[in-house]
Amino acid sequence: MNPNKALWEKGDFTQIAASMRRSGEALVKELGIVNGLKVLDLGCGDGTTAVPAARLGADVLGVDISSPLVAAGNARAQELGLTNCRFQEGDASDLHELENDSFDLVVSIFGAMFAPRPFDVAKEVVRVTRPGGRIVMGNWIPGDPTLVAQILKISASYSPPPPEGFVSPMLWGVEANVIERFAGAGVPTDKVAFARETYTFDFPGTPSELLATFKSFYGPTMNAFDAATADGREAELHSELTELFNAQNTSPIAEFTSIPATFLHVTVSV
Ligand SMILES: C[S@@+](CC[C@H](N)C(=O)[O-])C[C@H]1O[C@@H](n2cnc3c(N)ncnc32)[C@H](O)[C@@H]1O
Repeated sequence: MNPNKALWEKGDFTQIAASMRRSGEALVKELGIVNGLKVLDLGCGDGTTAVPAARLGADVLGVDISSPLVAAGNARAQELGLTNCRFQEGDASDLHELENDSFDLVVSIFGAMFAPRPFDVAKEVVRVTRPGGRIVMGNWIPGDPTLVAQILKISASYSPPPPEGFVSPMLWGVEANVIERFAGAGVPTDKVAFARETYTFDFPGTPSELLATFKSFYGPTMNAFDAATADGREAELHSELTELFNAQNTSPIAEFTSIPATFLHVTVSV
């Protein structure tokens, strides 16, 4: 199977997404969504940003490579009675099922960054955005000291080297790479804007329990534990991640975890 799809169909990302709803809503609130705006949420998961966009009146399509996440998104939209929000399977590197210029706004929060062939991703998102529209990406930043960048860094250090030609998803968190990729899709540098923002993970339990959720349900962490176990290094990985989750927790309440994580907010004017 396509390893990119297999990674995200492993585990159950909805369990992690549950801790990201507050920041998802806050981010969407800042996007100037008006009734009827046509929005594509790419790598949408179960709709952390698609659902609040639809609640603000946008006409939302969520596209994700993971079939269970697409089903979870459609179930959420149905439960909430959101007839203006639907989800379908697709690959950010090849959106052939979507027509040119069909969206006012393409959003991809920690989504398209995980697709292979980043130059194709940039071309595809630009192609489906109408002239005068916008693309907004949220991307984790390599070397950043906060939670997700550190989880991915630590996980990589316990995993076998990636196959030849693999391009790290984290390069979407480097401004020069983002500019180069959109330039390849015909977007001039001055149309790409950057900001550093924060997503907060809110979890009703201890940091160790949040780590247990990542260990059981988050594909990249699951793969790292599989590799570490095979190497007899599971305890070492567990202890390194326990230290990270505890050190990053800012919640003053004992049975609640709150972890802010920095990301690169990219806005592209098409
Ligand atoms: C970290 S999750 C973020 C999900 C969602 N955007 C959110 O904020 O909760 C990454 C998502 O990207 C999706 N994804 C990974 N590779 C993809 C690809 N090539 N095309 C479309 N979606 C992809 C995964 O299935 C997963 O739902």
